[in-house]
Amino acid sequence: MEYQRSILITGGAGFIGSHVVRLFVQKYPHYHIINLDKLTYAGNLANLKDVEQAQNYTFVKGDICDFDLVFALMQQHKIDGVIHLAAESHVDRSIKDPFTFARTNVMGTLSLLQAAKLYWESLPERYEGKLFYHISTDEVYGALAMNKELFREDTPYNPHSPYSASKASSDHFVRAYHDTYGVPTIVTNCSNNYGPYQFPEKLIPLFINNIRHRKPLPVYGKGENVRDWLYVEDHARAIDTIFHKGKVADTYNIGGFNEWKNIDIVKLLIKVVDRQLGNKEGASLDLITYVTDRAGHDLRYAIDSTKLQQELGWEPSLQFEEGIEKTVRWYLDNQEWLDNITSGDYQHFYEEMYKNR
Ligand code: NAD
Ligand code: DAU
Repeated sequence: MEYQRSILITGGAGFIGSHVVRLFVQKYPHYHIINLDKLTYAGNLANLKDVEQAQNYTFVKGDICDFDLVFALMQQHKIDGVIHLAAESHVDRSIKDPFTFARTNVMGTLSLLQAAKLYWESLPERYEGKLFYHISTDEVYGALAMNKELFREDTPYNPHSPYSASKASSDHFVRAYHDTYGVPTIVTNCSNNYGPYQFPEKLIPLFINNIRHRKPLPVYGKGENVRDWLYVEDHARAIDTIFHKGKVADTYNIGGFNEWKNIDIVKLLIKVVDRQLGNKEGASLDLITYVTDRAGHDLRYAIDSTKLQQELGWEPSLQFEEGIEKTVRWYLDNQEWLDNITSGDYQHFYEEMYKNR
């Protein structure tokens, strides 16, 4: 079949990537979606069970740092759009192992950019109809004081963790490839995502799982840090909108205007999980355990997504409480999914992560 477009999605077996792959495969049967993923501890093909047989979907196991592989894929599938999500994504891991973050997030992005540049420049139409869309994070802007204005697209970069430094660096490379070579690029910076298929090292799925198993809930510091939460399917819809309607060389911030202190989220999770499990109200409050703070822990992230809302008409669809109800239901109903990814080296990871806290 002759496809209208051929899109390379990287990191499609991860949390956000799997929602993006699902949305594109189902909504655009006339696009060929190629998912390139290394299947690190965070990648899981079970996240894509419902689309793996689709005709317009191809999975390739591989590393974005492997330039020859990426270039060959660009040629073989005549790729005209890249949606780049593959990354090392967990801040705590970046504190323990910064090199892996520099390799994947910086060198991997560079390898993709160079492959796209060389392939597109080899075509008669060159960059016409092409797009390299890079998915990034609000963490590149640094930490906001409680009384400070939200992050806007022109907020200066000020990353603090090895993770955010690596993402900031990758964003700069993407913009440099536009400014230097004319590669058509877009960068988006999104706030904290939550929802189904998130690896249970991140706050929300980790705590849902721990409440279920009556394990301690390790709250860093005083639990006063603030994050701005967005339901993952709303992020995937934003990516769809921006991929099709975004302005080349532009940046869009994506967020839900939905700021929560960690400790308030923990209490909300306890309330919802206990209710859904049929436990007495407040039964799991005793699991809250204050532990040593994350090194360099950013106080607050909060995104101003006015530009995206006004220019492209996107807006979040779910209220947080509604999203949390759905998310808790999903994790409780999908214990097998959790067991499969938490049964391997997860216990080891968990012990390592918390042994010094
Ligand atoms: P994730 O950790 O769940 O998934 C990352 C995926 O990338 C995995 O499938 C993994 O196997 C793959 N991957 C890792 N290294 C690779 C490599 N070298 N080659 C090929 N594939 C590789 O991450 P996520 O939470 O879904 O985040 C996806 C993207 O969105 C990341 O770029 C992240 O920085 C960004 N982001 C995440 C959030 C969030 O709240 N999770 C918010 C804003 C932006
Ligand atoms: O802001 C976007 C970013 O959100 C993404 O770029 C990252 O990929 C993603 O991991 C996420 O980063 P955070 O560090 O904000 O997410 P995490 O779920 O790790 O932590 C959320 C908050 O909860 C943070 O303030 C640290 C705190 N926390 C986290 C864990 C895992 C705890 O108090 N205890 C925990 O056990």
